[in-house]
Amino acid sequence: MSSAAEPTRPVPVIAIDGPTASGKGTVAARVAQVLGFHLLDSGALYRLVALAALRRGLPLDAPAALARCAAALDASFDGGRVRLDGEEVGEAIRAEAVGNAASRVAAHPQVRTALLERQRGFRRAPGLVADGRDMGTVVFPDATVKVFLTASVESRADRRYKQLMEKGFSVNLCDLLRDLSERDARDSQRAAAPLRPAEDAFVLDTTALDIDEAVAAVLEFCERNGLSA
Ligand code: DC
Repeated sequence: MSSAAEPTRPVPVIAIDGPTASGKGTVAARVAQVLGFHLLDSGALYRLVALAALRRGLPLDAPAALARCAAALDASFDGGRVRLDGEEVGEAIRAEAVGNAASRVAAHPQVRTALLERQRGFRRAPGLVADGRDMGTVVFPDATVKVFLTASVESRADRRYKQLMEKGFSVNLCDLLRDLSERDARDSQRAAAPLRPAEDAFVLDTTALDIDEAVAAVLEFCERNGLSA
């Protein structure tokens, strides 16, 4: 006979944080697919705020206006499609200029607060894989599993360079390396929710790993913590 007052378990969350181009987006999507969990790409939300701000001509150093823009963001994610004000912007938000603007927008505590509950709203059964910078430290401090993916800045620049070349963008490796280093510095030195591993995070250096190996290592860690397919 089961007890009437059995406590309900919180929906499990796998938080995957790390710097730009550490492979966390791809790893998060693959882990979510294997486990049948929902996926939150929190960087996409900051990129959407940045794109909306750029389109409206809002200065990136105006926290109150940016926070209003974030709170009222008309964004949707369905089946891999990202929409802003009803328009599909999946490609547009991936541009390097939007990523750099997102890093500046994300430094404002008011903007982060405006996006907090929206991010928590993605937590739905049977579980969530959340990818970002502060998933394990701020947004889901009670996450079941916390992973921090990292890799040397040179190998991340090299990966990003190959991705962009494959998409037909002309890019310069030295410029990419400089941009990544600047973003790392801004994301990890800001006062609000800086990029850093949670104390209880599994830190995985993917410099010498390919995506399959990184996914396997994360899934093994999830399994050790009671989350398996
Ligand atoms: O993961 P990404 O490159 O798509 O993120 C774009 C920017 O958004 C990144 O430079 C920092 C910011 N960001 C953040 O501050 N917190 C998050 N949880 C996710 C992204």
